[in-house]
Amino acid sequence: MKILVIGSGGREHAITRRLAADRPAPELHAAPGNPGIAQLATCHPVALDDLDGQVVLARELGVDLVVVGPEAPLVAGAADRLREAGIDVFGPSAEAARLEGSKSWAKEIMAAAGVPTAASVTVTSPEGLPAGLDRVNPLGDVPFVVKADGLAAGKGVVVTADHAAALAHGEAVLAAGGQVVLEEYLDGPEVSLFCVSDGTDVVPLAPAQDFKRALDGDEGPNTGGMGAYSPLPWAPEGLVDEIVADVARPTIAELARRGTPFVGILYCGLALTSRGLRVVEFNARFGDPETQVVLERLTTPFAPLLHAAARGELAAVDAPVWSDEAAVTVVVASAGYPAAPRTGDPIGGIETAEALGAHVLHAGTCRGEDGVLRSAGGRVLTVVGTGPTLAAAREIALSGARAIELEGSHHRGDIARAAADEEARA
Ligand code: AMP
Ligand code: GLY
Repeated sequence: MKILVIGSGGREHAITRRLAADRPAPELHAAPGNPGIAQLATCHPVALDDLDGQVVLARELGVDLVVVGPEAPLVAGAADRLREAGIDVFGPSAEAARLEGSKSWAKEIMAAAGVPTAASVTVTSPEGLPAGLDRVNPLGDVPFVVKADGLAAGKGVVVTADHAAALAHGEAVLAAGGQVVLEEYLDGPEVSLFCVSDGTDVVPLAPAQDFKRALDGDEGPNTGGMGAYSPLPWAPEGLVDEIVADVARPTIAELARRGTPFVGILYCGLALTSRGLRVVEFNARFGDPETQVVLERLTTPFAPLLHAAARGELAAVDAPVWSDEAAVTVVVASAGYPAAPRTGDPIGGIETAEALGAHVLHAGTCRGEDGVLRSAGGRVLTVVGTGPTLAAAREIALSGARAIELEGSHHRGDIARAAADEEARA
């Protein structure tokens, strides 16, 4: 099988790495890819926003399948263009990807499908903000949740006890021309579950947990994700089945009913609150960095699963099987991330990290004319460790992250710590 992966981040490196482990191994191409992906696939210099270029490339290569990684090309219609050209593609249409591209539309779908989520109001003018905050948080005794309606690379959400800061974020989003979604605060641990769908059927992958805040102890601003682990030793029994039955299937059915079937990954971001399961957000693609740990544990073939989904044939595929091993990933971020990431710094220590048993996925790297590997984004590398326990996997990922040499870089030291402690007690 010949496969083209569109994207250039850590998620796409993980997808490519897992595809390369299938037997027989598929022939792999990437656009544009990155220096890590280039070790596994032929990279082609076609930009993420060059939708025409992607179609031309997929045609020229004669690929059997295109996997679109990031949300931006999906929301822009990359999958539609490829499908119109008769190419099998794993990734939703622009219309279906609005589940991620518009939080207010996602709320509308959830309401229609009876999917549990935080109560919310959408605000379009600054005058509406104070009343909106009152409505979703009448007692003001829990944090305020203020979201940009559109795509924001994980950085459009502010959760704060400070009323003035909540107002200020809402005003900034409106001033930039967006709408604001104000939400009821959800307590409880968060879970990310990726559900593969062919538009009708749903196949869940293994659940993971992501760490969204920049600093240890869940301090600091929201980011795209600073680390992740899987499995979740603390998850209640039946959690995956419950999410599939109460969230994924009704959502997929509602989209099909509207004539916009969802083909790809329905990423269910959930809070397990004291009042039950609630959707925090949907994404229309694999999560980053959760993919780096989830795919590490997949023992059954990956390409046939994606290909079957792209072709509407998911019912014919055996359920994925997961290794008992734990996987932990720690993101190494550049100085200034998430507010103002510094780029262009040389990166060292990857071989040392790998000698310690970790593997290092490239998220925001580039190789200059001089051949030197340099930082090219906010999240630069994701360092993955695996082991018989979360504690073991965590130790490898963390020692690997510490071995990375990148001036001013930072990583969290507490990824999966509480879960590893809980697992050890159990
Ligand atoms: P989102 O981009 O919608 O996933 O939001 C990013 C992060 O903000 C989530 O992963 C949560 O940690 C936090 N968050 C979002 N919505 C809520 C909510 N309603 N209550 C509490 N925390 C939230
Ligand atoms: N890790 C969160 C996301 O991919 O949106």
